Amino acid sequence: MQQQWSAVDNYLIKALIPGDPVLDRVLENNHRAALQSLEALGECPAFDLIFIDADKPNNPHYLRWALRYSRPGTLIIGDNVVRDGEVVNPQSADERVQGVRQFIEMMGAEPRLTATALQTVGTKGWDGFTLAWVNA
Ligand SMILES: C[S@@+](CC[C@H](N)C(=O)[O-])C[C@H]1O[C@@H](n2cnc3c(N)ncnc32)[C@H](O)[C@@H]1O
Repeated sequence: MQQQWSAVDNYLIKALIPGDPVLDRVLENNHRAALQSLEALGECPAFDLIFIDADKPNNPHYLRWALRYSRPGTLIIGDNVVRDGEVVNPQSADERVQGVRQFIEMMGAEPRLTATALQTVGTKGWDGFTLAWVNA
C-alpha cells in the first residue's frame, strides 16, 4: 500500500515539476525508510525549505541531515513538537517525546540556527511546530 501511494505521489510531483534531477533522486527513494533515502541522496544543492514530519524518535538524525543540506536562508520546520504539552516532561517514557526534546535541545545549541516553537490548537488537539532559520 505504502509503495502504491509512493507511485502516485511520484507521478503527480513529476508531472508538476518535470526534469529536476535532484527531485528525481528524492522520488526514486521515497518508498524507503527516511534515513535510508537520506543516505542515498548524495551530493546535491542545499534546499530552501525542509519539513521534518516522520517518526519523531529519529528527529535528531533528521535535524543533522537537514543541516547538511542547508545554506544560509534555509527554513527547517519540525512538526508535532508540543505533543499535548508532554514535551516539557523530562520523565516522559514516550520515545517520540524524548526524540522531540532532543531535537529542540539540538536546535537551541546549534550556532547555525535561530529557532522558535509555536503551539497550535486544532481538530487534532494541542500541538505545535518549530521554525528554524539557518543563518550560517
Ligand atoms: C505525522 S505523519 C505526517 C505525514 C505528512 N507530513 C502529512 O502532514 O500529511 C508521519 C508520516 O511519516 C511516515 N514515517 C514514519 N516513519 C518513517 C520513516 N522511518 N521513514 C519514512 N517515513 C516514515 C509515516 O508513514 C507517516 O506517513
